[in-house]
Amino acid sequence: MRVADIVRFRDADSRAVDLLYRRVFGHDAASASTLRWQWQYLQNPNNPPGGPAIWLAREGPSVVGHFATMPVRLALNGAEISGSWGMDVCVAPERQRQGIGEALVRTWDQQAGAGLGLGLSPASQGLFRKLRWPGIGPVPCLVKPLSRRALRNPRWPTPVNRLVSAVTWPFIRLVARTRPLGAQVEPIRQFDERFTELWTAVAPAFGVAVRRDAPYLNWKFVEPPHVRYSIVALKRDEAVCGYAVYRHARQALGRVTLLVDFLVDPGDRIGFETLLRWVDREARAADSDTIRVFSMHGGFRRLLRRSGYFGVKSTAVLAAKINAVRVPDDFYKRTDDWHVTLGDSDQDR
Ligand SMILES: CC(C)(COP(=O)(O)OP(=O)(O)OC[C@H]1O[C@@H](n2cnc3c(N)ncnc32)[C@H](O)[C@@H]1OP(=O)(O)O)[C@@H](O)C(=O)NCCC(=O)NCCS
Repeated sequence: MRVADIVRFRDADSRAVDLLYRRVFGHDAASASTLRWQWQYLQNPNNPPGGPAIWLAREGPSVVGHFATMPVRLALNGAEISGSWGMDVCVAPERQRQGIGEALVRTWDQQAGAGLGLGLSPASQGLFRKLRWPGIGPVPCLVKPLSRRALRNPRWPTPVNRLVSAVTWPFIRLVARTRPLGAQVEPIRQFDERFTELWTAVAPAFGVAVRRDAPYLNWKFVEPPHVRYSIVALKRDEAVCGYAVYRHARQALGRVTLLVDFLVDPGDRIGFETLLRWVDREARAADSDTIRVFSMHGGFRRLLRRSGYFGVKSTAVLAAKINAVRVPDDFYKRTDDWHVTLGDSDQDR
């Protein structure tokens, strides 16, 4: 069967794309997407000169498939290549399972120095599996309980929840206690050039990580129109040694503080613990029941566990395929030094 034509997005396609998005993801998701579209696709400092890299599957005048990307620079064991997150892939319901998704992904893959995906749906996991992308699995999720309400489960009856709260409260109080900061932490509103220098200094420590320089960080965490973040810098004297980006949110199970992104030398134990202790204080002040973080890096996760976090099931499935350079056979199996967080791609919406 003939598969649709795969073409680049033009402004005139906006309405057709909105309609397709609405049909596949629903009205709420489409409205939210409209709010962030301009920022996400037009203002990205890593955009190529030709504008945003968005592909459409077209059949005559109809748009039946959509695949958008977020270009990034990618650090790869000290080297740097260009890459992009693939996102918002969708195919019109009546045209699914006919090879259009596959054609869109192949078009992207042929042009990307590295293709990346985060938070894949079961359908797109199936699609990447069919295309024989390396299986990586989810970015681990960890939570830290802070209040009596932290371990409540809506599926349990009230007496069970009460019992769990009573039994676990002494332990939660112990892990959630205030601990002293080992370095200076300062709220900031903008990332200056010192953060690019920080990135340059720590990048070689990561097997894979998106380049977190000042222009990227300002675009990603200062300028988004749909979400507001708190940002702090970790400093020793006037030198910037790290940062943390977080926000507080109300979710089904109570209040949560999301530690969305962070950067510090993975060997700087005191620095990372200081950032975590700051976030603890902020979370308690915001009356959060838990703090949640996603972290691929084994070293950061060890320090998170030492700071009272424990692992829970993660749904943030990661996909990656490096095309620009040859990578060793076991590259996708050894992800312990990859730095991927909820702040990557467009996961925090
Ligand atoms: C994901 C999506 C874009 C795939 O597009 P598509 O045109 O249906 O994909 P293809 O026909 O090229 O399918 C290729 C392979 O993907 C896998 N796949 C596609 N849809 C699947 C589904 N619903 N469940 C499991 N696997 C699926 C299959 O392995 C399929 O091969 P097969 O048909 O030979 O079994 C489409 O299903 C869609 O729009 N889904 C809803 C939105 C969504 O989940 N987007 C992803 C957000 S991360």
